[in-house]
Amino acid sequence: MELRKGLEDIAIKETSITFIDGELGRLYYRGYSIFDLASFSNFEEVAYLIWYGKLPTRHELEDFKSRLAEERGVSEDITSFVVRTSKQGNPMDILRTAVSMLGLEDRQEGDFIGKAIRITAKIPTIISLIQRSRNNQEFLEPDLSLSHAENFLYMINGTKPNAQDSRVLDVALMLHMDHEMNASTMACLVVASTLSDIYSSVVAGISALKGPLHGGANSEALKQFMEIGSPDNVEKYVMGKLSSGQRLMGFGHRIYKSMDPRAKILKEYATRMAKNEEINRLIEIAMKVEEVGIKVLGRRGIYPNVDFYSGLVFYSLGFEQDLFPTIFASARVIGWTAHIDEYLKDNKLIRPKAIYVGDLGKRYVPIDER
Ligand code: ACO
Repeated sequence: MELRKGLEDIAIKETSITFIDGELGRLYYRGYSIFDLASFSNFEEVAYLIWYGKLPTRHELEDFKSRLAEERGVSEDITSFVVRTSKQGNPMDILRTAVSMLGLEDRQEGDFIGKAIRITAKIPTIISLIQRSRNNQEFLEPDLSLSHAENFLYMINGTKPNAQDSRVLDVALMLHMDHEMNASTMACLVVASTLSDIYSSVVAGISALKGPLHGGANSEALKQFMEIGSPDNVEKYVMGKLSSGQRLMGFGHRIYKSMDPRAKILKEYATRMAKNEEINRLIEIAMKVEEVGIKVLGRRGIYPNVDFYSGLVFYSLGFEQDLFPTIFASARVIGWTAHIDEYLKDNKLIRPKAIYVGDLGKRYVPIDER
């Protein structure tokens, strides 16, 4: 039996959702290039595309938008749980538990995509509740007249966002929606393949996304730019980190061996939306880290990934640093649920093998003789 650590280069399903060309740095959702979707489309349309496999007609899109908006509210139980834990808890732990509670509350049978819509609509409400309640700010009810991204920003910052900010979040969320068989999607599928429920599967996805080698890297990347403090310190910081065997956060990817296309798009937005002195300085630092990092790691195919610039974008929009992985989850839930839906159409229990390397035939020694 062949050992493939980390299941590298192993395919576990066929998919028509997402294609990644890691050599050329290309990404497609349902056959559409991410560059076109980021330029011309929006959150709701791309969510529809990923779930239903086609672009919606105008009527279908309007209907879908209302369905998504109407599901934004959360129960008093969830509100009080989030308020109670928001000051001490890690936001990903709070989100994971809140999604688990959503599962307890959802008594409707069937309608898989209906449940996926419900979870997707409620996650931004839970995230805003975490940020506002821990800062002793009043909780705002979702505004159903706003788009998904506009409402998300409104609930975080307490004011209606300008068109540029909502467009930036719209694009950033689109870029995070799916990425083929990443670690968190795999975690969702392992759970779903046992014929467990959608909420349990999404909870597994959130748990896997939390780690710093996956979705937790966006927050770590920004922390790294803050630690560096000034563009003059970049070279020394990066070389010091790499020579001591540490990893540059926001760099490297299992599939991309060139610049991640999502990082290219986010870099453009991050530089375009630079707002104040602190953010301008952080962007300058990030660009210098990119330059030095590529100089050292580029020849090994290690380049900036989606998490390198996304944190800067989220921070500029008013999100607190430790919330970044939850924003990632708020978009990736669309890919998770689309892959679960696709997998269950031809389900096979996921149960790989391990190669045993221990001893056999040992004599059992009673406890008093050990
Ligand atoms: N900085 C320095 N060296 C790196 C980096 C990095 N960011 N990434 C990979 N390497 C090196 C490793 O040290 C290793 O070197 P070695 O062969 O000399 O031991 C080699 O490249 C291969 O690394 P692996 O971890 O085996 O490769 P893998 O495909 O598993 O790595 C991963 C992918 C985990 C994302 C890695 O690049 C990493 O840790 N990056 C930093 C964290 C990060 O940004 N994560 C977000 C990824 S994108 C996402 O999940 C949304």
